[in-house]
Amino acid sequence: MGEYRELGSSGIKVSAVGIGTWQWGSKIWGYSKTYSDQDLLEAFNKALELGINFFDTAEIYGNGRSEEILGRCLKSIKRDEVVIATKFSPTRMTERGIRSALEGSLKRLGTSYVDLYQVHWPTSSTFIPMTMKILEKLWSEGKVLTIGVSNFNLKQLEKARESLSRIDIVSNQVEYNMLKRDVEKDMLEYCLREKITLIAYSPLAQGALTGKYSQLNKPRDLVRKVNPYFTSWKLKNIQPLIEVLREIASRRGKTITQIVLNWIIRWPNAIPIPGVKKIEHVLDIAGSLDFRLDEEELKIIEEKLREIQMKSSSRIIHGVRLLKNFLSMKIYEG
Ligand SMILES: NC(=O)c1ccc[n+]([C@@H]2O[C@H](COP(=O)([O-])OP(=O)(O)OC[C@H]3O[C@@H](n4cnc5c(N)ncnc54)[C@H](OP(=O)(O)O)[C@@H]3O)[C@@H](O)[C@H]2O)c1
Repeated sequence: MGEYRELGSSGIKVSAVGIGTWQWGSKIWGYSKTYSDQDLLEAFNKALELGINFFDTAEIYGNGRSEEILGRCLKSIKRDEVVIATKFSPTRMTERGIRSALEGSLKRLGTSYVDLYQVHWPTSSTFIPMTMKILEKLWSEGKVLTIGVSNFNLKQLEKARESLSRIDIVSNQVEYNMLKRDVEKDMLEYCLREKITLIAYSPLAQGALTGKYSQLNKPRDLVRKVNPYFTSWKLKNIQPLIEVLREIASRRGKTITQIVLNWIIRWPNAIPIPGVKKIEHVLDIAGSLDFRLDEEELKIIEEKLREIQMKSSSRIIHGVRLLKNFLSMKIYEG
């Protein structure tokens, strides 16, 4: 595969696409029904074989099962062959709480350190400095090699960085895909300038951007039953985009998924971490790096994205108008 990127300024090299493991052990994603431990082990081994060395998990995924399964995978390899990122939940607000979260993660992963330890979500800004000081302590003890944040906005990220004295934040993990582009407003540029890695979660819009799903064929797992990416209207609205992606993919001998991931890695500091369930996913994902979308292709994609965005906006405006009319009728009646 062969493309690696530095995690912040840490010197740690990770593959330009990583593997998300929320699905590992998570029944809400269909674990044990539609895929098994054996599938995940095979996916892990294939990822390593193809040069993917970056795995993202969290204490909360599958109530710890994701870390346990990843830990079992690690048993058959040398620890330094992989870069493991995990996260603690924002309910951990004290030193004792964060230490106990880390001890739990290390135990489940069967390792003495994590390469990247991330705050899963920001709580109130007041807690950021204290949390960072605790993370810096864990770093000085060698239990975590680098620290990162997740779902932080720019203000929160700056506050986190200001609270550290000996190390810097290496990454911010945020939702980023063709249908969710908030980070393009300011976060991506900031991270690029400051040498902070942007770890892109839900890069495939949870599968909505793979071309597999439509109004008539929706995923059945619990996570996506309630997910706004999979309403009938949204799936219908993105079909023109899927068609354009299909054309580009077929011209290049690629899959839609590979085009969608390549669109993210056009940013030199971005690393998408698609969530995988089986070996086929890994085989596909590994093929997303050996090309670059050209200006013309990026322009075509951009135009389609603008069109579908305009349709969404006019639908929202229409909805707000209907609501206003309804409310004014109610007031009049009242
Ligand atoms: N920090 C946070 O708050 C946060 C939040 C969410 C996720 N994450 C992390 O980000 C990772 C990825 O995000 P995500 O799981 O939400 O969404 P995603 O990566 O956009 O979508 C994952 C789903 O896409 C489908 N898929 C994966 N590879 C595919 C391929 N090559 N071809 C076709 N379909 C494929 C799979 O489901 P099907 O095959 O069943 O369609 C998979 O479950 C997670 O695993 C987790 O590690 C972090």
